[in-house]
Amino acid sequence: MPVAVQMTSYGPPAVLTVQDVSLPPLGATDVRFRVEAAPVNRADLEIRSGTWPVHRDDPFPYTPGLEAVGVVTETGDAVEAVDRGDRVITMMQGLGGVHATYPGGYQSHVTVPADHVAVLPGAVDPRAIASLGLAAVTAHQALDRLALAAADRVLIHGATGGVGGAALRLARALGLTPIASTTRADNEEVLRDLGADRVAVLEDVEDDLPPVDGVLDPVGQAVFTPSIAALDDGGRYCLVGAASGADLALSAWDLMRGVVLTGYSTETLDGSALRSTMRRLVALLQSGALTPPPYETLPLAEAATAHRQMEARAHRGRLLLVP
Ligand SMILES: NC(=O)c1ccc[n+]([C@@H]2O[C@H](COP(=O)([O-])OP(=O)(O)OC[C@H]3O[C@@H](n4cnc5c(N)ncnc54)[C@H](OP(=O)(O)O)[C@@H]3O)[C@@H](O)[C@H]2O)c1
Repeated sequence: MPVAVQMTSYGPPAVLTVQDVSLPPLGATDVRFRVEAAPVNRADLEIRSGTWPVHRDDPFPYTPGLEAVGVVTETGDAVEAVDRGDRVITMMQGLGGVHATYPGGYQSHVTVPADHVAVLPGAVDPRAIASLGLAAVTAHQALDRLALAAADRVLIHGATGGVGGAALRLARALGLTPIASTTRADNEEVLRDLGADRVAVLEDVEDDLPPVDGVLDPVGQAVFTPSIAALDDGGRYCLVGAASGADLALSAWDLMRGVVLTGYSTETLDGSALRSTMRRLVALLQSGALTPPPYETLPLAEAATAHRQMEARAHRGRLLLVP
């Protein structure tokens, strides 16, 4: 019997329960896949609690999950680029998450238009790919926007988290010099082991940040102002999230130093960008240049536990729901 995590109101993790569901009809351009892993992302928590509400008046019952990896079981009559048995990843671009026009990744079976998936090489470990997933796509796109040269110093905030952790691994793989930040001193060793050239422990942000060529920031408010101050003249800053809040204070003098502010959201990711970025990530993974983050698996029925762990920042690595 197909199952899905559903919530019927915004609220604490306990609003997430597993329900039996029936499979939706398969459209001519759709693919259906059996889910092998559905990563938990902080954005799922923001949507669940209502701090980032769904863009629909009555979105319930709502199935969270911005992404999923699995094996295709059915394809619509007009689908040519995807076959039964293919391993695929989707990021529900414009369909799941806050759009909620399709149920999200926390399900046993996901149905999406074929253009919304990237076919993965059969040999790839589905959990390794899921542990990189949307976080690594975000980090990759943000590093592209920072346009750094080999050995440039890049400050990566939230480096113990999904996006920051993927950015740290990618920065190393691409030959940059990553400086990782964390709010917890006990994370320092783990971040050094991951390849951080230096770790900034943000007890006293102002004193801790060294001069850098670029900043990749999923944290936002708590680190924005000192991050801009740490940028060398002409340096680039890319915001990809606001885990600590979205109110940013910028001094006009910093713009006159030529610093460049930009940002990226996977809300703008289309099928073509998904496929090209996944090709790049898989190539780095298969060459050994990129290592996947550690992950913990939980059954779909434990979605609420996974949300509690991420909320308490009590986990290390990625959390994957497995049907
Ligand atoms: N732009 C996009 O397309 C995109 C894609 C994915 C995620 N995001 C956004 O990026 C942000 C991070 O997502 P994620 O999935 O990487 O989250 P995550 O796994 O929870 O990681 C966030 C990290 O930020 C650090 N942090 C510092 N201050 C924090 C605070 N006040 N609250 C929470 N964490 C804090 C934590 O590291 P320490 O405990 O070591 O300090 C934590 O590990 C979220 O806002 C999310 O919505 C955006």
